[in-house]
Amino acid sequence: MQAKPFKREFAFPGLVAFVSTCDQEGVLNVAPYSNLMAVLRPTDLVCVALWHKRDTLKNIRANNQFVISVPPASMVDKVVPTAQGHPPEVSEFDIAGLTPRPSKVVTPPGVEGAVAWMECELVKQYVEKSHVLVLGRVVNLEFDRNCLDENGGLDPEKAQPLMMLQNNKGMRFVTVRDIGAFEPYGAMFFDGEDILAEHYED
Ligand SMILES: Cc1cc2nc3c(=O)[nH]c(=O)nc-3n(C[C@H](O)[C@H](O)[C@H](O)COP(=O)(O)O)c2cc1C
Repeated sequence: MQAKPFKREFAFPGLVAFVSTCDQEGVLNVAPYSNLMAVLRPTDLVCVALWHKRDTLKNIRANNQFVISVPPASMVDKVVPTAQGHPPEVSEFDIAGLTPRPSKVVTPPGVEGAVAWMECELVKQYVEKSHVLVLGRVVNLEFDRNCLDENGGLDPEKAQPLMMLQNNKGMRFVTVRDIGAFEPYGAMFFDGEDILAEHYED
């Protein structure tokens, strides 16, 4: 079935993450963002797309820092309350009953109860007329150890990361399911060697 090109996001299951920031007076801000991605492997870069109006963008510009918290599906009821566009002086942490989780390197806290936290520093902004692509560097990354599998990644059953599929009516919140398929990174290369393997040594 053919669809209008703007519905391209219906075809991309999207991660739903909380981006937290603080303004110059120290007021905390948190909002859900799904237009975000890790930039290639094995860089430490992330990219978030934001409309100009976002308090999150204003705060990132004010102090060059933000935190991405990856929530479990059980936090789905915190998504809409933090997305409702409250005035900048109101902290969505209070509105949604979210607990700030102190960060190690940056000033903004993450969100308590998430399964992973990325403390980020602004690297570059790609400014378009209507929106901005923010490129950030992860300067501290932490996982909830109870949500990890034996190889150091998120276990789908334990972590149940919150994601969404979109349709004509709205956002359908989902999570991931293990399909019992695994390949080492080396499988992508003719000689079976992963040229980036050393990056994964602790
Ligand atoms: C699931 C979900 C994902 C969202 N993703 C984005 C996004 O990627 N970029 C964006 O600009 N707004 C996004 N929004 C809208 C913002 O969360 C919303 O406008 C929020 O009020 C922005 O808060 P802020 O002004 O404090 O940054 C999303 C909303 C929801 C519910």
